[in-house]
Amino acid sequence: MFIELDCPASVRKQLGKLFAESLKVTVPSEPDVVPLIDACVAKNGVKHADYQCNNAMSLFAKIKGKQTEFKNPRSLGEGIMKNLPPSEMIESCSVAGPGFVNIVLSKKWIAQSVQQVLTDGIDSWAPRLPVKRVMVDFSSPNIAKEMHVGHLRSTIIGDTLARMLEYCKAESLIRRNHIGDWGTQFGMLIAFLFEKFPNPEEVKESDIGDLQAFYKASKLRFDSDPDFKLNAQQSVVKLQGGDPKYLTAWQQICEISRTEFNKVYQRLGVHLEEMAESFFNPLIPPTLEKLEKLGLIEDSEGARVIFVEGVDIPLIAVKRDGGFNYFTTDLASLWYRLNVEKLDWNIYVTDVGQAQHFDMLFKAFKRAGWLPKDSNEYPKCTHVGFGLVLGDDGKRFRTRSSEVVRLVDLLDEAKRRCKVALLERDNAKEWTEKEIEKTSEAIGYGAVKYADLKINRLTNYTFNFDQMLNDKGNTAVYLLYAHARICSIIRKSGKDIEELKKNGNLVLDHEDERTLGLHLLQFTEVFVESCANLLPNVLCEYLYNLSEIFTKKFYSNCQVVGSPEETSRLLLCEATLVVMRHCFYLLGIEPVYKL
Ligand code: ARG
Repeated sequence: MFIELDCPASVRKQLGKLFAESLKVTVPSEPDVVPLIDACVAKNGVKHADYQCNNAMSLFAKIKGKQTEFKNPRSLGEGIMKNLPPSEMIESCSVAGPGFVNIVLSKKWIAQSVQQVLTDGIDSWAPRLPVKRVMVDFSSPNIAKEMHVGHLRSTIIGDTLARMLEYCKAESLIRRNHIGDWGTQFGMLIAFLFEKFPNPEEVKESDIGDLQAFYKASKLRFDSDPDFKLNAQQSVVKLQGGDPKYLTAWQQICEISRTEFNKVYQRLGVHLEEMAESFFNPLIPPTLEKLEKLGLIEDSEGARVIFVEGVDIPLIAVKRDGGFNYFTTDLASLWYRLNVEKLDWNIYVTDVGQAQHFDMLFKAFKRAGWLPKDSNEYPKCTHVGFGLVLGDDGKRFRTRSSEVVRLVDLLDEAKRRCKVALLERDNAKEWTEKEIEKTSEAIGYGAVKYADLKINRLTNYTFNFDQMLNDKGNTAVYLLYAHARICSIIRKSGKDIEELKKNGNLVLDHEDERTLGLHLLQFTEVFVESCANLLPNVLCEYLYNLSEIFTKKFYSNCQVVGSPEETSRLLLCEATLVVMRHCFYLLGIEPVYKL
């Protein structure tokens, strides 16, 4: 767990409060016992209770021999149950096995709580962050180098984490694009630009076309022609020395890359705030100076390095040739984030391959006394890693000609396939062109996002259009259809939901209504688990289960429109929509309202 969230709305938390009171009375000699409450999981499709309190066993081991009142864990469990303060939440309790206290919630209370979210909105369920200023550093592609599927993962995961933290009311939440816009590759690119275009100021984006191809061609020149190589190296020096002609060329190249990045962000609906590596150049010397003064930097074979605890190799702060690297920039940028931007929590989203880089960076800051030694204290830094994107062949995802996949093309292909599927439907004629466009974008981009987010981020995942666009499995397509179906149930009823919300009453008499209602209420605790561990897949699983419970249980067994329970059931449908839509929102997926 990365963070402790305060979440008064969570059922677990509310039960925890009741049990804390009982524990204090039952075992006064142990006033600091934390209540252990868990949701019950069904065994062979049967659930004996909704929640259970698991304190009796471990607590008995603590008090054994000291307090005589309880003979065994089971009798302690009974004591805990007996001392529970009265609450409208609980229908009944019982003690099972060695001392578990099983809890069955009152269906009236579940119904009231679900109805409340309809009046107060999903924000009333939001947990609170213990910190104010949070930054998520994600996407962060490199100029003129490939923006590859790894950056796509970073963009998708990072944006979702940002949305989750925003929901917890972070006072300020920054989505930072730490673009790699500096480095020796620019010497080569600029030299190539000048060679191809004697009047570089007149060069338009379309003249250069694909920057990746441009990069490749210049690299070819660099590797094969020693004169060009020399020229490229001199260009770096001129650029770093601030020669205006070189600076302009550099800006031009950056601008072209940015246009390309923005096409991806626009499709994904992601808005980042850019603070590129070059911004930190002037901050590098003073940061190094501070570290020197603290005695952290030492000499190693001509390079200036920092050793950190538990790692054999040092972090290279200044290269042998006096140049700076990725590390140096991160030293300066983290210093800036902590001291100028005054961030409480700094989250970096990159592939797991960079885990050591960040581990060493954070350790260096701890050594300097710039971050607390205890990682649970603030300000703090967290690296959020993710695995590789693989192709069907199990190797790194590439195109057939083993080129890097252009992300824009990838997203456009997802949309194209969805459009084809939509146009093949029987009711395709009822749709306007605009609706088809919008829906295929929502489903196509949503599918790419969901396929990524539903997997535990630490594992590799296989990119496969057929799988992610399947309308049956655990895919965004299936979920969006489920959402649209619920919308159509409400439309068909012809009822005004706003009216029902004001005057209708939600009751959960049928078992499947109760199951759905309880699952809706459990959103908060699942969200807390997902957010505290920075694992969006937990939220995806919840959303998938919600659709399954709705479709396979509730909707299969409880008639909505035209039934005596219509009003209540429509309200339950609406509450399901509210929670579903919120999950979509957190996952960055645009909902679809009609099928
Ligand atoms: N540009 C880097 C890459 O493409 C990611 C940067 C992550 N952020 C950072 N502050 N180092 O791998």
